[in-house]
Parts: sequence; structure tokens; C-alpha cells
Amino acid sequence: MMKSDGGDIFLSVRNLTVEYVTKQETVQAVNSVSFDLHKGKTLGLVGETGAGKTTIAGAILGVLPVPPAVTRGGEILLDGEDLMRLDEATMCKVRGKRVTVIFQDPMTALNPVMTIGRQIAEVIELHDAVSRKEARVRAERMLEMVGIPAARYDEYPNQFSGGMRQRVVIAVALACNPELLLADEPTTALDVTIQAQVLDLIRELNSAKKTSMILITHDMGVVMEMCDDVAVIYAGEIIETGTLENIFEHPAHPYTIGLFGSIPKINGDSERLSPIAGLPPNPADLPKGCKFHPRCPQAAEACKSGEIPVREISAGHFCKCRGKAGEA
Ligand SMILES: Nc1ncnc2c1ncn2[C@@H]1O[C@H](COP(=O)(O)OP(=O)(O)O)[C@@H](O)[C@H]1O
Ligand SMILES: [Mg+2]
Repeated sequence: MMKSDGGDIFLSVRNLTVEYVTKQETVQAVNSVSFDLHKGKTLGLVGETGAGKTTIAGAILGVLPVPPAVTRGGEILLDGEDLMRLDEATMCKVRGKRVTVIFQDPMTALNPVMTIGRQIAEVIELHDAVSRKEARVRAERMLEMVGIPAARYDEYPNQFSGGMRQRVVIAVALACNPELLLADEPTTALDVTIQAQVLDLIRELNSAKKTSMILITHDMGVVMEMCDDVAVIYAGEIIETGTLENIFEHPAHPYTIGLFGSIPKINGDSERLSPIAGLPPNPADLPKGCKFHPRCPQAAEACKSGEIPVREISAGHFCKCRGKAGEA
């Protein structure tokens, strides 16, 4: 499903299914999600709050809270190796070294009682066999790469602004030259004016180091600026994937088309142009058939039951829709 052909696939997520199970309910957070990320490319994972984006990132990193998270199946192939089959000790070496993450809120990602320089140096020492002195030199270099003077090495997170803290988090995430960076809404908590700077920084560092990235966002404007490929997620399912051009020039799924209505305008007026009516479904009680059908302006009888097929509407552009959108 939704397997893009050819190219240099670095990460391949296949049929990933994750639930959160409590006494009260079972939340179907991620439902048979498959997508591929090509080496050195940035894939945008786009969808509304609650769609399952952070759960996918947590599954890739192997940090889902268990319980309540239950992984029902799937594969997460990093360069052909299934991360879900690794034991915790091996996964620990993958995390922070081969795969790293930038979360939304820089304050929760940083230790408030450790200097920012030390937080970077510690990751370097943990993963690369270097002396404390060498780690400091490398950490200072990382600070300068993210635009923070090395002289601020011995300062604490509370001495920095939000945007500067997120730069520190980026330095931590990129300190060991990860092959895969997961950026989970990395600028959502920041000032609008700082957002663009931080995104530029991530893009520059990634292209310098040829890092592959999954950029999680609900902001289509960010996707347009940053991504090579896009996967649109709704109610725990990927409903459309393709190149940036496929998704922006020829969006096919009614949900994707609706998302375009929420691109912030250049003048800062983020009023929606064509809001999608209704709310996402309760993931503890998902609708049958297409999970978008209760909100879909084009829903037909056939959309209300059964498995919705994924169709390749042009080379590498996939859409999970029974309607006109899914037709070639
Ligand atoms: N620890 C948890 N326990 C129970 N439900 C959770 C937990 N974490 C996330 N969920 C639920 O799983 C669904 C997907 O959440 P999440 O992956 O955080 O979505 P997103 O990142 O797209 O906003 C949501 O319905 C959310 O409420
Ligand atoms: Mg999230």
C-alpha cells in the first residue's frame, strides 16, 4: 500500500497499527499506516491534532508509553532493519545517534538544571567514544552552527528565549549526525517571527549533513517551504501521499483539498478560506468505511462501509478515496 516505487528508500513504515487501551476505551490512534522516506529527503506528515502523528514518531523512536500503548503490528524498516524487533539496549543506541527527535516544546526537552553546552556534550559522549574535552569542543561547534555563541556554553536553559532554546534542542538532535531526524511540530510553540528562522536552520543543517527527515506539522505553509514529499493523515490513516507537487498542484482527496483552506495568508490573516465542516471522529469510535465520510462534501453511499481502496492516481501519487478523487 502506498509504496512509492524506486529511489533510495531509507525508512519504510509498513502497516503500523497502534492502539491506546485503557479500561474505559480503546483509542485506534494509528491504523495500518504505510509510507516511505527516501534518503536525504524530507517527508511532511500532515494532519489535524489527534490524527496520530506523534504516535507514529513515538513508534519509530520506540518510546511509546506502554501501557496504554499497544502496537498491534507492522514493521518499521530503517535501512532494511526492523526497529520493532530490536531489544531495548540496541534501540537505545539507535536513539540519539541514528534517529533523533525535535519535539514541540523546547522546555520539556531540556534539563533545566544542566548547562546547555553540557546537554549537547553529553549526547556526544554517550554515542561517540570521545573524551570530555573533545565532546566540549564538538558541542561548542554545534552551538555556533545553530547560531549561539560558544561563550554561552555554561548558561542554563532559563537564560535563553524560546527560540534560542529550540536552537539548543536542534543542536542536541543533530550533535551525532543522525541519519533520520523526526521533527514533531518543531516550531509550533514559537513566535511567528522566530518560526521561519528555526525552520531555515533545520533545513540548512539537514541539507549540509544529508539527513533524512520526517517533519510533522498541521501547517500546510510549513510543508510547502520544507518538504519533498507529503503524507496526509486523517483519523490514524494515511489518506494521500505524493510529491510536494502532487499534493499542492493536484490534491485529490477531499480532506487534502480542504486542508488548503487553512494555509495562513501572507498578510498574517490566518482565517480559513474554506473550512472543513465538522470535527475529526472520536478515535475510540471510528466511523465505518471511509473515516472522513461524515465530513466529506462528496461522500456517496459506497463510502459509508467496507475497506476503502488505495489507488495510484499518477506515478507515486496515492489516494485512499472511493469518490471521483480516487479515479484515474
Ligand atoms: N498516552 C495516551 N493515552 C491515551 N490516548 C492517547 C495517548 N497519547 C495519544 N492518545 C490519543 O491517540 C490519538 C492520536 O494522538 P497523537 O498521536 O498525539 O496525535 P497528533 O500528534 O496527530 O495530534 C488521539 O486521540 C490521542 O488522544
Ligand atoms: Mg502531536
